[in-house]
Amino acid sequence: MTEQDIDRIAQGYRAFVDEARPTSPLYARLAEHAAGSPTVLEFLAALPTGKRQPNLLLGALQFLGGAPGDGAELDRRITDDAERLRATMLTRATQTNEPARCGALLPVLAQLEGPLTLIEVGASAGLCLYPDRYGYDYDGVQVGPSDSLRIRVETSGAVPVPAAVPEVVARIGVDLNPLDPADPGDRAWLRALVWPGPVADERLRRLDAAAQVAAAEPATLLRGDLVDRLPDALGFAAPGSTVVVLHTAVLPYVPGDVRARFAETVAGLPVRWLAQEPAGMVPGTGERPADGWGNEFVVSLDRRPLARSAPHGGRLEWLGDGLGASPA
Ligand SMILES: C[S@@+](CC[C@H](N)C(=O)[O-])C[C@H]1O[C@@H](n2cnc3c(N)ncnc32)[C@H](O)[C@@H]1O
Repeated sequence: MTEQDIDRIAQGYRAFVDEARPTSPLYARLAEHAAGSPTVLEFLAALPTGKRQPNLLLGALQFLGGAPGDGAELDRRITDDAERLRATMLTRATQTNEPARCGALLPVLAQLEGPLTLIEVGASAGLCLYPDRYGYDYDGVQVGPSDSLRIRVETSGAVPVPAAVPEVVARIGVDLNPLDPADPGDRAWLRALVWPGPVADERLRRLDAAAQVAAAEPATLLRGDLVDRLPDALGFAAPGSTVVVLHTAVLPYVPGDVRARFAETVAGLPVRWLAQEPAGMVPGTGERPADGWGNEFVVSLDRRPLARSAPHGGRLEWLGDGLGASPA
């Protein structure tokens, strides 16, 4: 463990403070404390580099007994419960699965010629593979089944709110570590990844309802890397369907060279490519934010930016004057 390591970790936690503040003031306070706490920083520095991030530490703490109420409790928990905490952080990963992101995908999917095969890379438990099974409320305009969970979306610009959900005939997910929406342990971990704050209850209700939908109609979930498993995933496409390769909140986790290979591979396939990622993660979608995530995602189809969305869904700003979803 070097001083450089400690500085780098503290910097990461300081950057997280601004990201967390709007939706989770508690996480913002805990991250601020962590950035200056030798107890926390030394604990983190003893973990492998990919296992030190705020989301993972705070998720593991929630998983093991709830979020600490303040910095003093954070230090105490890290000292008293170090072994369990380390084991959880080593075996689990940040795999937040937010079905509300479907609110930004639906207006694009509904414009494509159906029926659709959806292939989601970085699917986590696959909860974004059911855009046709959820109900939506776009500024009061209702879309989709009325007996399912309801995803509320605040819109601006000419969002092409669809009259109906598209027909989905095959759902395939790829993930380094697919989670099982029917497994109580995986569901508990997904719940622990929801940041405590004013919108947490709503997010947890949505997560539980979406996990039920997914468990009742299991998708084909393949384990492995998004480039390596793409050919296998394509093998599960329904004949005669439009194949959509989609991903949301995945590419910042993928090393730059793999990201470039993925972009090249997808661009060469007879598929539509729908992404909801921080700017610049998909070629042609703008400048990459300094912290790798930023406060907005870009929704793009076949590399063409169509809209901006809140990272966890709930807000959608259309950039053009309507459809914009012309073939690439
Ligand atoms: C933040 S989660 C997003 C989950 C889901 N797309 C959503 O928006 O709710 C990122 C997911 O990407 C997966 N992932 C990261 N790198 C990957 C790779 N190279 N290949 C496949 N999956 C990957 C992680 O395991 C994780 O489940």
